[in-house]
Amino acid sequence: MKTDVAIIGAGPAGLLLGHLLRAEGIACVVLERQTGDYVLSRIRAGVLERVTVGLMERLGLDARMKAEGLPHGGFNLADGERLIRIDVAGLTGDSVMVYGQTELTRDLMDAAEPRGLEVIYEAGDVALHAIDSDSPYVTYSKDGVAARIDARIVVGCDGFHGPSRRAIPASVGQVFERVYPFGWLGILADVPPCNHELIYANHERGFALASMRSPTRSRYYIDVPLTEKVEDWSDDRIWDELAVRLGPEAAAQITRGPSIEKSIAPLRSFVFEPMRHGSLLLCGDSAHIVPPTGAKGLNLAASDVHYAVEALVAFFRHGDADAVAGYSAKALARVWKSERFSWSLTKLMHRFPEDGPFERRMQVAELDYIASSEAAQRVIAENYVGLPV
Ligand code: APR
Ligand code: PHB
Repeated sequence: MKTDVAIIGAGPAGLLLGHLLRAEGIACVVLERQTGDYVLSRIRAGVLERVTVGLMERLGLDARMKAEGLPHGGFNLADGERLIRIDVAGLTGDSVMVYGQTELTRDLMDAAEPRGLEVIYEAGDVALHAIDSDSPYVTYSKDGVAARIDARIVVGCDGFHGPSRRAIPASVGQVFERVYPFGWLGILADVPPCNHELIYANHERGFALASMRSPTRSRYYIDVPLTEKVEDWSDDRIWDELAVRLGPEAAAQITRGPSIEKSIAPLRSFVFEPMRHGSLLLCGDSAHIVPPTGAKGLNLAASDVHYAVEALVAFFRHGDADAVAGYSAKALARVWKSERFSWSLTKLMHRFPEDGPFERRMQVAELDYIASSEAAQRVIAENYVGLPV
């Protein structure tokens, strides 16, 4: 098979990119290792910035999001005693859209066949070849049969564990990483949220987050040591801990119920440079990971795709090779700003084992400063709603 762009990975980045390239008349094929159902089974955050909403609007795939999503004009920080509301809409004139990543992926997936976007699921043994040349190709197996796709450009949208990043020579690549000394224990339950907006809490006992998927489905998290096992955390134990850490105002509004999903996820900050090598571009989690504190993962995948489409349209339509060469620097400039915001909010809202009384006082003082300073709140608000692309 021959195409213009071979895309590896049919998560949000790969599907968004595939649809946008198709819409620009650029031929592409998406290769996905898993089944579509498996891709949809992943429980992931969905606090969408303007850039993500905008790409779905550009594709005309925003109808369900607008009908079922929850526009949020603010969110809350909590210090164990009070809620500090950040008036995102008032401070930035913009808002975020709460709409599960699974639903956004489903919208992109459902539109693939009607729009002629070719997605090959259950593609095994995907391998990248000749990425240093102008004629790279990808090999894979499907139903036990070996296959090959020749392309002009390959885009790795294959997440943190995919092969694309690893196809870039170690002598070329540089990794920047911080692994955090705790994980997030998440619980999903069909109960109404305790607040109509999100609450991020830093309590003496640790971090908590009150989020949601809909007016009848809540998503909560607490941070736990990496040694913890999810089976040691009964629903009641989690609800009890949430009630303490979120503080009395939120606790009074918590509706308890049986968990429909419960898991512990590790946290890391990770960036791989460069995001382009030869004829290979990287988008999304294949190039970077953020701690979920700032809900930036999906939005960074979207901004990478925005820059990749811009570069590939210039390349294929106008022969502008510099546009492709400039992709990495453009994408990384925004990646690093989101990494900084996610890292700083993680530092502010979590108790680190190495922290002593002084560090705790610094956190309390910073939350007190934010509570009293519109300037400090504006800084948080403009990062939360998403910096310009
Ligand atoms: N061959 C083909 N597909 C692969 C391979 C492979 N060898 N390895 C991984 N994949 C697929 C995965 O099965 C997955 O569907 O690549 C896709 C990568 O999707 P994501 O991991 O969701 O990454 P991305 O599309 O960049 O979206 C980033 O997803 O992980 C969350 O928090 C993250 O919200 C962020 C978003
Ligand atoms: C979620 O709803 O799963 C969620 C929301 C905000 C975050 C992280 C996760 O920062």
